[in-house]
Amino acid sequence: MVQLSTSVCLLGGLLGLFLLAPVQMAPTPASMCTPLKTLNDSLSHRRRYMKHNFPINYTIRVHQHEVFKLSNISRMRLQVEGLDELVLQRLWFQVNQGVLKKILRVMPERHPSRPYTAELEIRFRDAEGVFVHSHPAEVFQQELPEVIQDTWDHLTEEPDRVPESRWRYASPKSLLDNFCHTMHCLFSECFASKEAQQDYCSVSYWRKGRKKDLEPES
Ligand SMILES: *[C@@H]1O[C@H](CO)[C@@H](O)[C@H](O)[C@H]1NC(C)=O
Ligand SMILES: *[C@@H]1O[C@H](CO)[C@@H](O)[C@H](O)[C@H]1NC(C)=O
Ligand SMILES: *[C@@H]1O[C@H](CO)[C@@H](O)[C@H](O)[C@H]1NC(C)=O
Repeated sequence: MVQLSTSVCLLGGLLGLFLLAPVQMAPTPASMCTPLKTLNDSLSHRRRYMKHNFPINYTIRVHQHEVFKLSNISRMRLQVEGLDELVLQRLWFQVNQGVLKKILRVMPERHPSRPYTAELEIRFRDAEGVFVHSHPAEVFQQELPEVIQDTWDHLTEEPDRVPESRWRYASPKSLLDNFCHTMHCLFSECFASKEAQQDYCSVSYWRKGRKKDLEPES
């Protein structure tokens, strides 16, 4: 009897460990990779749809915190000791749902990039659905570090209560560049390549890529 209950306890303990482990050790569940790769495929056409179909130097008005770049991620990691990747991933979803909404809003019904953007948004929502379902609900109720909570509160403010000083102008293409680069950085396990160790969080990685990108065009 005693032995039985000990082994039940042990089993329970192991199960508990097993349930906790994915949250603490592997912030990116494997199930996230399929929708993120689909999103990555869409994003590979962003130059065509977010630049060529818009007037030169066209910008849209976004919230200051909707400019979310690799430099923001490294700054936040420095500011908050032991910052959980999951917190940054949540912020990434929060920021980019607003970005996509704002890009869609400026495009008339018949804009040539509208179907592309609408599909991008659907794929983004799919990834978000998988993200939410692959973590226990408690994770989303956890208190956020103060800087992140401040950013979050600003992002979710009523637009007409946002002071003029917190709006920024950014091109749709630059917003989607940020979207794409930060996605690779925060979900790097899904984009790891077999041949080389890549640091998707480093700005210089993307600089190299950009030169390659530009060659056929200019
Ligand atoms: C992501 O898209 C880029 C093209 O923009 C491609 O080179 C890369 O292989 C894709 N990564 C994955 C993991 O699908
Ligand atoms: C676009 O912006 C660049 C850099 O600010 C400027 O040099 C160029 O004249 C602008 N082009 C147009 C068409 O406004
Ligand atoms: C990213 O940094 C810029 C300043 O470089 C700031 O204006 C913006 O609010 C930051 N974004 C987030 C999400 O914190």
